[in-house]
Amino acid sequence: MAAKIISGKDIAKEIREALKAEVSELKEKHGIVPGLVTILVGDNPASVSYVTAKQRAAHELGFHSIQDNQPEDITEEALLSLIKKYNDDPAIHGILVQLPLPRHIDERKVIYAIDPRKDVDGFHPVNVGKMVIGEPCFLPCTPHGILVLLDRAGVEVSGAEAVVVGRSNIVGKPIANLLIQKRKPVGNATVTVCHTGTKDLSFHTRRADILIVAAGRPKVITADMVKEGVVVIDVGVNRIGTTPEGKAILCGDVDFDSVKEKAAAITPVPGGVGPMTITMLMKNTLESAKMWAG
Ligand code: GUN
Repeated sequence: MAAKIISGKDIAKEIREALKAEVSELKEKHGIVPGLVTILVGDNPASVSYVTAKQRAAHELGFHSIQDNQPEDITEEALLSLIKKYNDDPAIHGILVQLPLPRHIDERKVIYAIDPRKDVDGFHPVNVGKMVIGEPCFLPCTPHGILVLLDRAGVEVSGAEAVVVGRSNIVGKPIANLLIQKRKPVGNATVTVCHTGTKDLSFHTRRADILIVAAGRPKVITADMVKEGVVVIDVGVNRIGTTPEGKAILCGDVDFDSVKEKAAAITPVPGGVGPMTITMLMKNTLESAKMWAG
């Protein structure tokens, strides 16, 4: 039986409409406008397209939004002082530095430099630590988006065998952590994390009731690696070519066409996790603006 397609695009649209109404109310009643700055260093095409989508979403919601483009050869010192400027700017409630950064810049220093109260990406160790012990904090946007997708799709997570493929700080580690927590409505799963050191990947993926794939490699999960009725969340965005019109051709980390024949539900690429990541960034920025307003 073919899978139900979990449309992140449709779910994100619904949530953004609700956020937009909240932004208008905040503006009218309290004179507060959420402010987001996205800092882009260099012109990596994937990063340019992500940042453009984030700015477009912020604009559509009525945020005060700034796209701050910096040259590839900006010094680490200059980038750190730029972050300090936005830390001190009362009109800005969210600061996002698009990753990856050029090699001459220490990513860790940059993340540490962002005020944790404006870290709407949820990457600062203060927020990571709070997330791990289940305290209120900015949750990282992609894992947060996955939790919302699972909830909206009505997936029974409590007690499920969840298998995560990938151990990045942005997706794999935080989603594994969130899924084991006793959090409602989505949590309480038994979680296995697979990575490049895993000896027999398909042994693990075949056991999954919920399979979350953030491996960063196109179509590594094929139909023979999953069981009937699995719920698949594909976090991968791989550029595998360009159309004659110059548009990127994308695919996920999952071989969608074959896996959808066995899965109970699956997210597409594009239109699955991606729009949810951006939506959770908007949600965090709105929450931040409310928090700063007191
Ligand atoms: N690069 C890839 N994903 C992300 C993200 O969620 N936030 C930032 N800042 N950079 C990224």
